[in-house]
Amino acid sequence: MAQPRELWNSRIGLVLATAGNAIGLGNFLRFPVQCAQNGGGAFMVPYFVALLLFGIPLMWCEWAMGRHGGVKGHGTTPGIFYHLWHHPLAKYLGVFGILITFGVGVYYLYVMSWTLAYSFFSLTGKYMGITSEAEMSLFLSSFQGVKDSTYFQGYGYTYLFYLISLGLVIYVLSRGVVKGLERLAKYGMPVLFIFGIILVVRVFTLGTPDPALPDNSINAGLGFMWNPNFSTLKDPKVWLAAAGQVFFTLSVGFGAIQTYASYIRKKDDVALNGLSTAATNSFAEIILGGSIGIPIAVAFFGVAGTMTVAQGGAFNLGFQAMPLIFQQMPFGQLFGTIWFFLLFVAGITSAVAITQPFMAFLQDEFQLTRGKATAITGFLLFALGQPVIFFLKYGFLDDMDFWLGTFGVTFFACVEIVVFVWLFGPRNAWKELTDGADIKIPRIFFYILTYVTPILLFILLGTWLYQSGIDTILMRNVAKADLPYVIGVRVMLLLMLIGMGIGIKYSFTHDRLLKRGVIREVRK
Ligand code: PHE
Repeated sequence: MAQPRELWNSRIGLVLATAGNAIGLGNFLRFPVQCAQNGGGAFMVPYFVALLLFGIPLMWCEWAMGRHGGVKGHGTTPGIFYHLWHHPLAKYLGVFGILITFGVGVYYLYVMSWTLAYSFFSLTGKYMGITSEAEMSLFLSSFQGVKDSTYFQGYGYTYLFYLISLGLVIYVLSRGVVKGLERLAKYGMPVLFIFGIILVVRVFTLGTPDPALPDNSINAGLGFMWNPNFSTLKDPKVWLAAAGQVFFTLSVGFGAIQTYASYIRKKDDVALNGLSTAATNSFAEIILGGSIGIPIAVAFFGVAGTMTVAQGGAFNLGFQAMPLIFQQMPFGQLFGTIWFFLLFVAGITSAVAITQPFMAFLQDEFQLTRGKATAITGFLLFALGQPVIFFLKYGFLDDMDFWLGTFGVTFFACVEIVVFVWLFGPRNAWKELTDGADIKIPRIFFYILTYVTPILLFILLGTWLYQSGIDTILMRNVAKADLPYVIGVRVMLLLMLIGMGIGIKYSFTHDRLLKRGVIREVRK
């Protein structure tokens, strides 16, 4: 028999858990790289605009939708959309909200396992003595099993850390909302903030590490990030990158915030909760994330060097530059351990948030017990993770990230705002958002939500499709050797989509909805 839906145990637990959801690898790995790739201070202007016009409005919508669905027994978008828009298509549109979170979860978990491995390598000094970027890059790629080296052969290490990480995530999920997610956040978030502050203090006291190179300093790093530069504002690429970063870091556009918000009560606030999720996340991103990666890299490699590192790839700064830098400081091994463990804690509190929607989907819509839901979720995470691990060198992970993390999120953000604001109705949406609110949301946000955010989202999607999306979708720049894998990703995602769609068709039949109490028989 189905278990009753859980609720968060305390407000502080809820706040920490949703902060843990949002604060993740995006804040500490992705943000500095995006910022450096897009010109530092030139990135920050569109970033703040995107935060205000996309990020916070979407965060509010997702919180409001989540509470709305949770009260009716649905923690994921198929069920939520079903109640917002009375149309047979609504529930199928909601499938994207599960596909995206769960699909991202599959590879997010793998990247998170690298941070656990690197905490271990820092602690044991395994990369000590490597002094060049080329060698550090070899260390990383041989760890990932991409090629053999004297450091690693085969997939042994990477697989071991993957299994440990998977086991931890499954364990937390199996314990449920209060004893699993909430408890993890209660321990994890303080650790994360303390480690973050330790690192920021260490970075800020570095000054100019090499007196012979006075331009390479922490000050120069902060200047690079914080001197606003308006020259790139005309460049749509920078806007796209800024919006993409805002989606990723706030966890909006995925379908994941809704699930966390579905575990609150009908009369609980969503306005302040949504805002505080965004605020805590921004603090962790800008103050902590921004004060570690960029200033430290500029202090050691200079502005130009940092930009080159960032252009080299999403993980180069975190996994290659940072270990090189730590070796040049006193107690570097300790700081390396702290850095990677911080990433791991940030990662795991997000990894459980990314996979919980699928759990909720199985529990809410198929009335499965938590145990059964955990078994199915764990099995699928593992099975779908295999190509991500073994086809990494063919770009499998990057391609999944393109479909889900770039295209999917932007597309789904458009879908959900249309469903919530336009189809459910602007006044209903506003009422849903302000009911029980602990703060007064300025009225101007009514207009932003109703007109500005949706219109800008469509412009964003359109520009992106025109600029690079179409080429990627038509596989114009794919190397021949990688073609089977690129197609493989598409087939896999399509099968997932179809599978979830069939599941929904099954669970939303008239008889089943009646039995579950979602609808009531109307007597003539
Ligand atoms: N926001 C998380 C990060 O910054 C990623 C995430 C996305 C987590 C969606 C949960 C859901 O890493």
